[in-house]
Amino acid sequence: MEVIIAEADKLAGLAADAVEKLLRARPAAVLGLATGSSPLRVYDELARRHKDGLSFAQARAFMLDEYVGLPADHPERYRNVIEKEIASRVDFAPGAVQGPDGLADDLEAACARYEAAIAEAGGVDLQLLGIGTDGHIAFNEPGSSLASRTRIKTLTRQTREDNARFFGDDVGQVPRHCLTQGLATIMSARHLVLLATGRAKAEAVHQLVEGPVSAMWPATVMQLHPHATVLVDDAAASRLQLADYYRQTFADKPDWQGL
Ligand code: F6R
Repeated sequence: MEVIIAEADKLAGLAADAVEKLLRARPAAVLGLATGSSPLRVYDELARRHKDGLSFAQARAFMLDEYVGLPADHPERYRNVIEKEIASRVDFAPGAVQGPDGLADDLEAACARYEAAIAEAGGVDLQLLGIGTDGHIAFNEPGSSLASRTRIKTLTRQTREDNARFFGDDVGQVPRHCLTQGLATIMSARHLVLLATGRAKAEAVHQLVEGPVSAMWPATVMQLHPHATVLVDDAAASRLQLADYYRQTFADKPDWQGL
């Protein structure tokens, strides 16, 4: 696991560099897209690079998760958020961006279809991730099976409170259920790139990088991934025991290496 501590704009640039390098080497790459605040600077940077010629026309993308039951036109439905924040700002082909169907009559069948669609696309090449204050990735809340695949989950009170800011600060408006890629689904992606900023993420980041692998902090499963990159600002890094070592390692990193 590589840990990079830098300012938020620099982190977004590094993540965008990794996406750009992938798309230039493999235009038909499969991207994994996260929602929430953490990837927004990356999406801004990718939209800017698209204007400078970076194309997504042959690429495909899979979202991490979706609320269950939000109306199709709800602005916080993750499908709509992803459309607004990135899909509509670059040149993905129609239908190239997919997400779990939180409005399906048969949610279990929708989850199975989603797993099949990811497999049929050849799996995700680069997965962008955020982390919840309770250590979730996608919406794999504490206690999630480390072997889980896409399924329905119940959001914790903590996550619903954290996300109330998107729902007029009214936690009652935040859905209780979601469909989410499982931890094993996420672990199947070939490169994981997680972004975290702000002091509220410091304990989750410490557990993710330095804690024991445990379903209590689901993101810790990333310690078992052969190619995981953790991009954090000073505040999110403030509880890391080996912060000085991570800083030194990044300062000494050869220019050619990339993420
Ligand atoms: C969103 C997702 C979540 C968020 C996490 C952090 O698709 O999968 O795991 O990444 O809740 O959210 P932010 O970035 O808003 O702090």
